[in-house]
Amino acid sequence: MRERLAPYDIANSKVAFQSEIIEKGNWKLTIENNRECYHCSSNHPELCVSFIDLDFGFDPASLSPEDREEAEQHQALYEARTKAWEAEGYPSAAVEQLVDCATNFRTQRLIIAGAGESQTPDATAASSKLLGSMTRKDLGDVHLWGHNCWHHFMGDHAVCTMIIPLSADETLVRTKWLVHKDAVEGRDYDLDKLTSVWVATNEQDAQLVARSYSGVVDPAYEPGPYSPFTEGQLDNFVTWYIDRMRANGY
Ligand SMILES: [Fe+2]
Repeated sequence: MRERLAPYDIANSKVAFQSEIIEKGNWKLTIENNRECYHCSSNHPELCVSFIDLDFGFDPASLSPEDREEAEQHQALYEARTKAWEAEGYPSAAVEQLVDCATNFRTQRLIIAGAGESQTPDATAASSKLLGSMTRKDLGDVHLWGHNCWHHFMGDHAVCTMIIPLSADETLVRTKWLVHKDAVEGRDYDLDKLTSVWVATNEQDAQLVARSYSGVVDPAYEPGPYSPFTEGQLDNFVTWYIDRMRANGY
C-alpha cells in the first residue's frame, strides 16, 4: 500500500473524530456484514449518495433491463477511469489476496458516486485542506480491507475502521476520521459533514449485526448458502478463516 497511500501522507494527518460501537454479535458477522453490499441500498441511504453498491456484487437476474444497462455502463466507466488514473500515476486496479495467504487483503481505487469527491452527505469534500500532497478531489476512494479492518482514503479525509473481538457475542468497532494535521475544525472542515455518513452507516450496520446474531444463536437457525453474486467475498472470508484455523493446528 506504500505507493498507493504515499500522496495521502497519513503520518501527517490527525484524528478529527473517533467513535466506538460495541456490536452485539461476533466478529465473523461484523466482517461478513462489511464484505457484502447487498444490504446497502435498503439500509444505508446516507452512504449510498457516494458509495456504489453494484461494486460489491449483484445478481444480473434480479436487475431490470434498465438497471442491467446501467450496470454495464458502470463497468465500462470503471475500466476507463482506472486506466486514466493509472496513466496519471495513481495505482488504482484491484489487488486481492483473499485466500491461500496468511493475511487477508484487498485494495481498489473506487469511483465515488454523485459529486465524486468524498463520503459526505452530498459527496463533496468535507475538508478544504486536502490530505498530504493531494491537490485533486477527483481521485476516488482508495479502499483497503483486511480481516480486522476496512479503510477509505479520499482526497480530503480518510475513514479507518478496525474491529476487535471482545467475546463470543460482542465486537468493538472503532472508527477514526483523519484529516490533514493542519486542518482546523470550523475553518477548514465541518465536523458533522465530515463524520455524519459513517456515523449513520456504523449505527445501521450495528443493528444489522445484532439482528443477524440473534438469528444465528436461535436453536431453529439453519445456515443457507452464500449468494454467488452478492456474497462471494463472504465465501472468500470464511474460506480464508478455515484455512488459517487448519494452518494453526485446529
Ligand atoms: Fe453496511
